[in-house]
Amino acid sequence: MKDNEGNVIDIQLKTVIFAKKNKRVIKIGDLNLGEFPLLLAPMEDVSDPPFRAVCKTNGADLMYTEFISSEGLIRDAAKSVQKLDIYDYERPVGIQIFGNEISSMREAAAIVEEAGPDILDINYGCPVSKVACKGAGAGILLDIDKMVAMTAEIVKAVKIPVTVKTRLGWDENTIRINEVTERLQDVGIQAISIHARTRKQMYKGEADWSYLAEIKKIAELQFQFLAMET
Ligand SMILES: Cc1cc2nc3c(=O)[nH]c(=O)nc-3n(C[C@H](O)[C@H](O)[C@H](O)COP(=O)(O)O)c2cc1C
Repeated sequence: MKDNEGNVIDIQLKTVIFAKKNKRVIKIGDLNLGEFPLLLAPMEDVSDPPFRAVCKTNGADLMYTEFISSEGLIRDAAKSVQKLDIYDYERPVGIQIFGNEISSMREAAAIVEEAGPDILDINYGCPVSKVACKGAGAGILLDIDKMVAMTAEIVKAVKIPVTVKTRLGWDENTIRINEVTERLQDVGIQAISIHARTRKQMYKGEADWSYLAEIKKIAELQFQFLAMET
């Protein structure tokens, strides 16, 4: 499927991704995903190795792990460390982390890189209270300076491409997704996935795509319109 400017559009569980522009080929860093990639979104307690094996068999071109707590990783918690398990047949595969402390996220990013994924994804979109109300996931949308600083530190800490998954804002009064996209692009992320709802909306209500057209304009120098949220 293509948008009205001829860019390739792909459906990734209703989340929008802007990835690096390179004619019609979708690239994240040096990773060439071809013209029409099918992406598996990160899903806690769902996108584990057996589920990913099924998705790979059925044509997934890029898959993400479920999110992993940075605090769990730096403390060597078995449950978190186990989620780093990835297998060569899954490639390309991304590992996603979340957390609210810049130093812990930087340390966790280095641990993730050791596990050998093709991409490191940062979760700035989780709306559940136990994550967002502690300032992680979508909670960081209330402190965009910290979000940018955290991302910059992570990009510096690893050699693999860093991607971000986020939402429009905390609520309808705090939507600064244009600024977020521009600033995260400036500190070196290679792609952004945008769930076109606010944290307040959780998983319900209308996704507002009107923001996405604007973001495409901001991001068009570096990013390509790749997938969309319904
Ligand atoms: C059970 C479940 C677990 C999820 N876990 C994560 C996660 O770990 N990380 C993440 O970025 N998004 C997570 N999400 C959000 C999805 O990746 C996706 O962006 C969201 O569900 C929107 O797509 P949908 O409307 O098709 O559900 C989860 C969603 C579901 C339903």
